Amino acid sequence: MKFKKILAAVAAMSFAVAAFAGCGGGSGSSSSSGAKTLKVGSAVDFAPFEFQDETQKEYQGFDMDLIRAIAKEMGSEADIQNLGFDGLIPALQSKQIDVAISGMTINDERKQNVLFSDPYYDSGLTMVVRENEESIKSFQDLKGKKVAVQVGTTSAEEVKKIGNVEVKELNTPADCFMELKAGGVDAVVNDRPVNDYYIQKTGATGVKALAEKLTAEQYGIAINKSDAELQKKINEALKKLHENGEYDKIFAKWFGEQKK
Ligand code: ARG
Repeated sequence: MKFKKILAAVAAMSFAVAAFAGCGGGSGSSSSSGAKTLKVGSAVDFAPFEFQDETQKEYQGFDMDLIRAIAKEMGSEADIQNLGFDGLIPALQSKQIDVAISGMTINDERKQNVLFSDPYYDSGLTMVVRENEESIKSFQDLKGKKVAVQVGTTSAEEVKKIGNVEVKELNTPADCFMELKAGGVDAVVNDRPVNDYYIQKTGATGVKALAEKLTAEQYGIAINKSDAELQKKINEALKKLHENGEYDKIFAKWFGEQKK
């Protein structure tokens, strides 16, 4: 217990230091080396794509490794800010950030407000229910039930389309899973790889993921609507990483030998 507390305190301190270093660019790293900074926004609440590991000061995950590799390829450095998922597109529009990488699904509605890179990951929505749940076997069974989703996501949108579902929009997927365990909702709808990781890798108990997919979706990196030049550079870098095997390495690190 005590050890955990100390760990948490150390982690908190290192985050504070990291945040500080990110502010002024003072410690002579990126600016003095001549590398330009790519300002990246992400909702760091979505393992294995973006998450915080108490024992490490850098944000972890597939997206984090990918955007660092893309930035490097472009001769710059990624400076990653943690923002709420529903704040990412506004942050792009106000130019607080240059790009957003956050397991963000490419769709027409978002395309009205931002540009997207080429797709970099195939995903889709599944649901998680309590282990002893008998009455929910498919998405249609959610009618008349309470369902938690992360606010601003495709899950929120898709679940509303089912109709007659009481939708609870919470800040993070972790909040949704907690609500499910506490009995406040009957199901969580969220991205398949994140649900699978939650069940398999975090030792979650008392819950299960169902196999049925509600949608097929692809993730893209979002870019300010007026920055077609940056979109081109990101796509070139992404293509290069596919060609030189770096993408496959990052993929294998987070998803093993699973099919792409
Ligand atoms: N793919 C879904 C969407 O684009 C969910 C993404 C949530 N990402 C996150 N980092 N929490 O709406």
